[in-house]
Amino acid sequence: MGSPPSPTLPPSRGKGVSRRAALLSAFAVAACGRDARSQQSIPARGPEPPLKSLAPFPVGCAVQSDQLADPAYAALFTRHFSQLTPEWEMKMEYILRPDGTFRFDASDRLAAFAKTHNIRLFGHALIWYAQGPAAFERLEGEAFANAYRNYILAVAGRYRGQAVGWDVVNEAVTEDGSALRDCLWGRKLGEFDYIRLAFQYAREADPAAPLFLNDYGLDYNPAKRATFLKLAERLLKAGAPLGGLGTQSHLHADLAPGAYARAIRDLASLGLPIHISELDISLNVRGLNFASRADLEQRQARLYGEAAEAFAALPERQRFAFTVWGLRDSDSWLRREKTPNAGADGPLLFDSAGAAKSTFWAVADAVRS
Ligand code: XIL
Repeated sequence: MGSPPSPTLPPSRGKGVSRRAALLSAFAVAACGRDARSQQSIPARGPEPPLKSLAPFPVGCAVQSDQLADPAYAALFTRHFSQLTPEWEMKMEYILRPDGTFRFDASDRLAAFAKTHNIRLFGHALIWYAQGPAAFERLEGEAFANAYRNYILAVAGRYRGQAVGWDVVNEAVTEDGSALRDCLWGRKLGEFDYIRLAFQYAREADPAAPLFLNDYGLDYNPAKRATFLKLAERLLKAGAPLGGLGTQSHLHADLAPGAYARAIRDLASLGLPIHISELDISLNVRGLNFASRADLEQRQARLYGEAAEAFAALPERQRFAFTVWGLRDSDSWLRREKTPNAGADGPLLFDSAGAAKSTFWAVADAVRS
C-alpha cells in the first residue's frame, strides 16, 4: 500500500549529521517493525524524537491558553516539552484589572493543563518595568507598598507547590546596560528596593520555588551583562532569596559565533542556576541584506546548536531549563511585530505546519546526553 518510504532529511550540518542519522535510523527501525506487522506505509516524514526525552534537563516553551485548544498544537507541545511558561497570561497586564481585582482564568487553565500532562509550570513574570497598570498608578505611599506586596503574594501564592520557579523581576537593567531602569516601581519603592522587596515577598508566597532575575541583551551587550551580574550580587549580599538567573536570549541569526557561549559561561560564574528563558532567533537581520534566506537559516541553526551546547555544558545543578519563546513559527511574537518582513520571520524550532526544522535538529544533536 502506498509508495515506499522516502524520509525527508533536514539539511545536513557538520558534526550533527552522524548523530542525526543515528536518531533517524533508530526511528526507521521502529517504523519498519510496525510496517512489517501492519503492512501500512511509513509516513514520508516520521515524527522526530521528543526533545524532552533527549535532553537531560527540562525543555520549556512559552504558551498562550487559547493555543492549547488546537489539538495539533497541544500534541506537538506535549510531545516535546517538559516545562510551560505562560507567554502573557501570568503577567500583571493580564491578571490585574484596572479596579484592582484579579483574573486568574487563563493562568489557571495553563496551570491545569500543565498538571494534567505532567509538565512543569514556570511563573512569568511578577514585576516588569513595562507594566505599571492603572490599578497602581493612583496609589501612593503605604497603600502602594501594600498593594505591591499583596499582588506578589496573591499571584505567587496561588501557584505555590506547582510553579517550579518564578521570574520575579523582569528586565531591571537599562537597554544600554549602564544602570537600573527608571520605572514606576523604582520611583515609588526605591530603585533597588523594589527589586529586593519583590524577591522577599515572592519567597513569603512560595518558600520553595527558585526565584529568578530575568533580562534580555545579556548576550549582545557585555556591559549590560556586567550590570546584571552586579545587581545579582547586590541582591545576594542584601539577603534577597535570588535563586537563579534568566537570560531571555531573543537573538538574531547573525550573532557572532562564540558570543552566546561566552555569555552563558559568564552568567554561570556566580554559581546560580541558569534559565535560557525565552530563546528565539530572528531571521530578520538588518545590514546583511546580501545574505540569502538559506544562509541565514544555516547561521540560525548553528546558533541554536551553540546555545543548546553551551547550556548542556553547564554543571548539572546550574541547568535550570532551556526554554524557547513559542512552538511553531506562526506562534512567534516576532511574527506579530509591525515591522517589515515580520510576517516572514521563522525564529523557532518548528515551522508553521508543525514540522521540525533544521533548528530543531541542531538542538536535538546538542542536547543528547
Ligand atoms: C511578549 C509576548 O511574547 C507577547 O505575546 C506579549 O504581548 C508581550 O510580551 N520579554 C519578555 C516576555 O520577558 O514576556 C515578552 O513576551 C518578550 C520580551
